[in-house]
Order: sequence, then C-alpha cells, then structure tokens
Amino acid sequence: MISQNEQKNLVASVAIDTLIGQGKIFSGMKIGLGTGSTAEPAVRRLAQRIDDGTLADIKAVVTSFGTQNLCEELGIPVYSMNDRIIGGHLDLTIDGADEVDPCNNVIKGGGAALLREKIAAYNSTTFVIVADASKIVDTLGTGFRLPVEIIGEARVPVIAALNALGADCVLRQGVRKCGPVITDNGNQLLDIVWKEPVDPAVMEDKINGIVGVVDNGFFTKNKPIVFTVDADGSVIER
Ligand code: 5RP
Repeated sequence: MISQNEQKNLVASVAIDTLIGQGKIFSGMKIGLGTGSTAEPAVRRLAQRIDDGTLADIKAVVTSFGTQNLCEELGIPVYSMNDRIIGGHLDLTIDGADEVDPCNNVIKGGGAALLREKIAAYNSTTFVIVADASKIVDTLGTGFRLPVEIIGEARVPVIAALNALGADCVLRQGVRKCGPVITDNGNQLLDIVWKEPVDPAVMEDKINGIVGVVDNGFFTKNKPIVFTVDADGSVIER
C-alpha cells in the first residue's frame, strides 16, 4: 500500500482527470474548492489542467483563507458565492473528508472550514469527496470527533445541550496561538464524541437546532461521489 500522502495526491489528481473525462468538470464552470491536504492536490491538478489548455474560464468559490491563498498562487480566479456571476449556485464542489460511511455520509471540519465547505457542498449540483483509505469507516463519529462551529458567547449553553444529546465536548485550542481556534468566520469550534453511535442525518438537524450552533460537520444532505483508494492502491469511485 502506498503512503497516506501518496494516496491523497493520487486520489485527488485521478478524481480531477476522471471528472474532466466524464464532463462533470468543464470549461466555463463554477467550481467550489475545499480545504485540507487532499483538497490541495485537487486544486493543484485543476490548475495544471487550466495551464495545459484543457480547461478555460473556470470560476472558483473557495472554502477557506488557505484555499484562497492557494488559488491566488496558482492563478485560479476566485469569486464570492454572492457574486452575480456565481448566483449562489455551483456546478460542482470537490473537497476532502475526515470520515466517510458506507452511505457516503461524511464528517468534515478537521481543518476548521466546515461552514464554508457546507455552504459550497449544499449549493452544488454535484458534490465530490476525495479521501485516502483511512477515511473510510463503518460508523461516523465514533473515532473522529465531530466538529461543531459555535458562537463563542453561547459556549456554555451549547455544551450543556450537546451533553443532553449524549455528546462529550472539547473546545478546540489553537496551536502556536493562545486560546481557542477562531474559524475563518470568527467563531469557535467544539470537537464532540458520542457515548453511543448516532444517526448522522437525524443528528445533523438536531445539533443545528441548538441556539448558538452555527453548523456541524455531519454532511448528509447532498450525497457526494466519493473517490478513494482500495487495498491494492488503485483509485475507486463509489
Ligand atoms: C477541513 C476539512 C478537510 O477536508 C478534512 O479535515 C480532511 O482533511 P485532509 O484532506 O487534510 O485529511 O473538512 O475543514
């Protein structure tokens, strides 16, 4: 089996080339670009296919400051979701994931970008996940902690409400920055683990019903096409 980094690079570039071949990535399209170490090689491969003349007039909506910087470096034009040329809807969004279950439900937000990632994913005709083999699980949220973006002022009541739903919560702390992680939207993040396995589709809505929650990392409503790597190192689409 190839290394995790090699899997990320492989699955990202094979996905971009396959989606071009299938006509799902095409010149003139509006594309959402995710965040993280698997989304990054996908963005880099997209830029290569623009540079080699395969694609033209790509309009990108990014999901984080990090991906904004990457697009600026690569010369991919970036728009707001609200720009008239985008009109609040994307043809396709491609992104990484923290966990993917057998129904292609997903946990995202390990890189603290879940809110803008969900805005892009849920406002796209096609949603695509690229994921190394370690991300494929049987049950979401029992290994990787589910990220929940919250308004800092509501931290204590939100934690109490999540405890009542059966979750243990940890406030995500900054690295080389004192205090909590502050998202690109100015909010804070809880990472939560369930005492018992939960139904992600039900829990996505229940968590978002708590006052002070901005959104959570369960993505169950726009089922993605998932590209991953199988045991012999070849890319599979499911
Ligand atoms: C960022 C995300 C990422 O897509 C997710 O954390 C996977 O990251 P990586 O590809 O680096 O493993 O949701 O908020």
